[in-house]
Amino acid sequence: MRTWPTGRIGFGGDYNPEQWPSAVWREDIELMRRAKVSFVSVGIFSWSALEPRQGDFEPGWLDEVMDLLGDAGISVDLATATAAPPMWLAAAHPEIAVVDVDGHRLSQGSRQNWCPSSTTFTAYATSLTRRMAQHYHDHPALAMWHVSNEYGCHNTPCYCEACAAGFRAWLQQRYGDLGALNGAWGTSFWSQRYHQWEHIAPPRRTPTFGNPGQLLDYRRYQSDALLAQYLAEREVLREVSPGVPVTTNFMTMTHFRHLDYFRWAPTQDVVSTDHYVVDALPDPRAELAFCADLTRGVAGGRPWMLMEHSTSAVNWQPVNRAKDPGQTIRDSLTHVGRGADVLGFFQWRASRAGAEKYHSGMVPHAGPDSALFDEVCRLGELTTRLGPLVGSSVDAQVAILWDYEAQWGLMGPALPSALVQYGDLAVRMHRALAARQVTCAVVHPLSDLSAYRLILVPTLYLVSDAAVANLTATADAGADVLVSYFSGIVDHSDHIRLGGYPGAFRDLLGVRTEEFRPLRDGEQVRLTGGLLDGRAGRIWSEVCAATTADVLVEYADGPLLGKAALTRREVSGSARWYLSTDLDDDALAALLAEVTDAAGVVPVVPGAPAGLDVVRRRGDQGSFLVAVNHSDEARELVATGHDLVTDTAVVGSLTVPGGGVAVVREG
Ligand code: GAL
Repeated sequence: MRTWPTGRIGFGGDYNPEQWPSAVWREDIELMRRAKVSFVSVGIFSWSALEPRQGDFEPGWLDEVMDLLGDAGISVDLATATAAPPMWLAAAHPEIAVVDVDGHRLSQGSRQNWCPSSTTFTAYATSLTRRMAQHYHDHPALAMWHVSNEYGCHNTPCYCEACAAGFRAWLQQRYGDLGALNGAWGTSFWSQRYHQWEHIAPPRRTPTFGNPGQLLDYRRYQSDALLAQYLAEREVLREVSPGVPVTTNFMTMTHFRHLDYFRWAPTQDVVSTDHYVVDALPDPRAELAFCADLTRGVAGGRPWMLMEHSTSAVNWQPVNRAKDPGQTIRDSLTHVGRGADVLGFFQWRASRAGAEKYHSGMVPHAGPDSALFDEVCRLGELTTRLGPLVGSSVDAQVAILWDYEAQWGLMGPALPSALVQYGDLAVRMHRALAARQVTCAVVHPLSDLSAYRLILVPTLYLVSDAAVANLTATADAGADVLVSYFSGIVDHSDHIRLGGYPGAFRDLLGVRTEEFRPLRDGEQVRLTGGLLDGRAGRIWSEVCAATTADVLVEYADGPLLGKAALTRREVSGSARWYLSTDLDDDALAALLAEVTDAAGVVPVVPGAPAGLDVVRRRGDQGSFLVAVNHSDEARELVATGHDLVTDTAVVGSLTVPGGGVAVVREG
């Protein structure tokens, strides 16, 4: 087995040498050494440079690059190079291009313009993968295979005829007969009943709302079709290049909603992901921390690779803001604290031409004589000192449930309120807890929840019977549970669970809601009682009554006067809370403080000051506090041990400078 280099946190990024004359490659190697780069991902978009004409494999230039990297001791995460089909393939097989919801075939001239269901694409991609694997398997620099790139970033959903046929085959497998499909899709509604398989099509543009079951299954199908494309390449790698780990970079970001990464993760030798800070979010760093915990959840708690993030600005947001000095190190350490053992960037050298020429790199347009490259070098040097963390796991007493199928359900047509977006409440809960130095795991509803004292269930709209049973068993074993509004509403087929909301969790929580009363943007409803007395609900409210729960907080206004806003059902030591409205950040923080205290959840470092993000990793080489100071002022961290960042002893407490970071090996 080829092993990924250990003894340090991996450090590097995407390297696209074909964009530069070979003289620059030597300078690249020299600068990579200076920055203490340990790995690069090579060849991701190199198909047309490696196979300029069909069947002509011309890897000479890449041989030279691989040799240079190998000689410099830099490991290569080598791409199968299949992410962007070359022009000759597009010309020979125009049918592999993606078709949009209106039936327009997308043109060549960008990237990833290949249909998820295209077997023609599979044939060409696996053929190149085979050539790559045969040619490079024995190269000493090869450390990992990087299959394609960010599956589904641009090429799903596709609505072409190949997808239509693939969808029908997938449905036949899933349902067996049309009766079952008609039942699952609720086709008695609007005369949608199918009597022949060939009448089923992708959910293309319709005059008004499409069938929600069809839409949901199409998302499932597209995710599975792309997974099959990945598996086809992986199969070739396993055969021709055994013993070399295989990965493909996920996009576990809250705005990417196309793939069910919980289904994909078991097919990875190591989970890798990309994360880019979205500046327009209310708190971009809260989303970053959430996504890092989500990636760990997707990876089943094991360490993971951050394959890409940015040293500074990206090129694809309306306004592409540069990162402030120190921000790249803070972002990187936020990922490391939450389980990343590798830090990668897109890309090594900022491009001179092409659609990403304004995207930052590790070497900016200004060259190595720049503050940005200095920071890259500082980070690279730091990663060499963080070796003891590698392989360690992250302590968490709280789990937040996350499910891509619930997300897809909440993206379905014609729901009660567009103001309820999957993920918003999850990120806000996570943020409120991180501010109290409480670490969360973000995990699938079917995962083993036994390690957690408290399970948070934010807007888990769609939930399977098995997931309900798992949560119930966890609560029965003693964990506390907090479920929010608009959870447990529909089953796996997106059918309402009848008898009162939240159907799946009515018994667990001891509540019953007769009607939703979503609120207009900006509208509020006053609350009375307990810890939310005098506060307000927003976005959502419900005609909710307790059946077996205690009502802690009531609505104090209008038609909901006296109805339950917050309830708690206590069953042999386990508290089951239900929140039937949405709260502002302040009230949410107050509620979560109460709920975590009641569950006996303790902060990573009790009494750590606001603005200091602290997470603990624990492994064979001890336990480590990873602290990131998001504020401008110095913050005290109570700790004893050795700070790996400054290489100094820590006795009792440590001052983390404003905007600084610390990694304390405890003991
Ligand atoms: C990722 C992609 C990279 C680059 C980057 C820019 O989606 O994998 O190739 O395009 O975004 O932020």
